[in-house]
Amino acid sequence: MENRLELHNVSKVFGEVQALEDIDFHLGRNEVVGLLGDNGAGKSTMIKIVTGYHQPTSGEIYFDGQKVEHLTVPLARQLGVETVYQERALADLQSLWRNIFLGRELTNQYGFLDVKKMKQETHSLMTQSMGFTSSAVNPDSKVGTFSGGERQGVAIVRALYFDADIIILDEPTMGLSLKETQKLLNFVRGIRDAGKSAIFIDHNIFHVYAVADRVVVIDRGRVAGEFMTKEISLDNLMEKMIRIAETGSFD
Ligand SMILES: Nc1ncnc2c1ncn2[C@@H]1O[C@H](COP(=O)(O)OP(=O)(O)O)[C@@H](O)[C@H]1O
Ligand SMILES: [Mg+2]
Repeated sequence: MENRLELHNVSKVFGEVQALEDIDFHLGRNEVVGLLGDNGAGKSTMIKIVTGYHQPTSGEIYFDGQKVEHLTVPLARQLGVETVYQERALADLQSLWRNIFLGRELTNQYGFLDVKKMKQETHSLMTQSMGFTSSAVNPDSKVGTFSGGERQGVAIVRALYFDADIIILDEPTMGLSLKETQKLLNFVRGIRDAGKSAIFIDHNIFHVYAVADRVVVIDRGRVAGEFMTKEISLDNLMEKMIRIAETGSFD
């Protein structure tokens, strides 16, 4: 089957800086790929190319086997790419259901807001996808009371509900408590359970190993190697990362 996304020979130059050099990358259907690499390795630049925020200096981008020229942010969104940002803009004073449907409200046949439907949908998303088990949280709860992990969960579920096929998380665990991080990692697993794909960026190898089907290591703008998490132990992966940091290669 065709990959959801492919990068062929993608390079990106910012002035004097070669941020990416000949990146080959693919993301399969229903696959979570973890991107690992030091600060400055090029991870964010790579996803900014996928989200249409930056244009590559050279190279090709394919979605579902179709080459896409001049990818822009709206076009990437249209192609099913959604990014969950660290500081997701949620409206704190608004209810959970409002936040889920913010800007994409459901209306009834007369064009009025279908509040009942939106609350029902929110309830089923909460219990089925978000894993909110606390009875303290309901569709009318204000998101200002949610933890950082729960807030990101709302953003992920919103992306899934609006039919994102590729969900990108760039350092989503930064600043989260241990417990919230576990919750977030569960949300990421939920993306796979929903049959969607994700690119998960985190400098913490434990987080990446815990959720990714495959790990791609970026070093100084290049793909240094990749591993199926099933086929490599965490210890072994850590050894390889250390080797990479020291020598720039696995061997
Ligand atoms: N908009 C930009 N202008 C100039 N240089 C940039 C820009 N964005 C990133 N870079 C440079 O590209 C390299 C890769 O950065 P980045 O993709 O943010 O790495 P990572 O996310 O892996 O930490 C770094 O050297 C960074 O300074
Ligand atoms: Mg980054």
